[in-house]
Amino acid sequence: MELSPQLLSALDRSLTAWPTKSLARAVSTLSARYRAGEAPRTGGFTESTLDVAAYAAYRLPATYAAIAAVFEEVSTRLTGFVPRSLLDVGAGPGTTMWAAIQTWPQIEEITLLERDPHMASWGQLLTSYYPESVLSKARWRPIDIASPWQESPRDLVVASYVLGELPESRRAPLVSTLWKHTVGSLIVVEPGTPEGFRRIVMARQVLIDLGASLVAPCPHQAKCPSDWCHFSERVARSRVHRQAKGATLAYEDEKFSYLAVSRTPGHPITGRVIRHPEIGKGHVNLSLCTPTGLIQETVTRKERERFRAARHVAWGGEFPPTPTPPA
Ligand SMILES: C[S@@+](CC[C@H](N)C(=O)[O-])C[C@H]1O[C@@H](n2cnc3c(N)ncnc32)[C@H](O)[C@@H]1O
Repeated sequence: MELSPQLLSALDRSLTAWPTKSLARAVSTLSARYRAGEAPRTGGFTESTLDVAAYAAYRLPATYAAIAAVFEEVSTRLTGFVPRSLLDVGAGPGTTMWAAIQTWPQIEEITLLERDPHMASWGQLLTSYYPESVLSKARWRPIDIASPWQESPRDLVVASYVLGELPESRRAPLVSTLWKHTVGSLIVVEPGTPEGFRRIVMARQVLIDLGASLVAPCPHQAKCPSDWCHFSERVARSRVHRQAKGATLAYEDEKFSYLAVSRTPGHPITGRVIRHPEIGKGHVNLSLCTPTGLIQETVTRKERERFRAARHVAWGGEFPPTPTPPA
């Protein structure tokens, strides 16, 4: 997954003002905090603009890739869904809206809830390079989403990498509030850790109880049979990204868990591939979540069409594939 060329250019321009050494130091502090699973500081996520620069260099490309992959999946499950409005809750530097307009260029109205002024300013800096775009007209609101809040409902509502930043007691109420604000589809993305997945399972139950239809990744609305359902997206690293991380590899793999629900049912899926397929000589082993539970399936060369499909399906994809109905 590549960042959109516009976002890549905006990110490069916003980061070049920072000396590589201070950026690299800030990135290493931030990544140590992430690795330690440290809770964000109370009162705000960042303490300075340099913290946000580090976030933009180190995390934004990865969260963008995860969110963009989820949006693509939702667009194939909800083919008639054409959101015109987006509400991004816990927006950070506005990552979600950049990915959303790639999948749904019809979006014409964007509202972002973000209480951290450094994050919001950075988000506005990024969009300022495109003064004519819908992104630069986005409305930023400095709201604490852990307390009650109110907005008008929107077609697409997203909370990405944010549930884990709230006190545990505020997470389920936030999920209900998100659903109240959803006209079309609600998407929640979390890091692909066991803790991130547990938050997705919590959100899933809250939303099922509220009558939401699960669109992805689940092929059913029954109790989740998995103990750790997560996916992975490969992210291309830009030059600035590599320098800031002191990394040599041209890519990294972002693990994430997610849930997409809707007011209307999506196209049903036969089975979700929940691990990297193991491709052997003349056979492919697949771990699948299906409407009847988790199964291991071995597809052999004898089943020609099925084998061809199994060789091409990726972790996170659907198996066996169903033809996508027209919009
Ligand atoms: C890890 S960042 C994710 C940003 C963005 N959604 C993304 O996926 O890249 C989480 C964001 O949620 C914001 N946040 C955390 N708690 C919040 C709260 N109680 N009210 C508003 N924003 C909050 C933080 O300031 C931070 O910008």
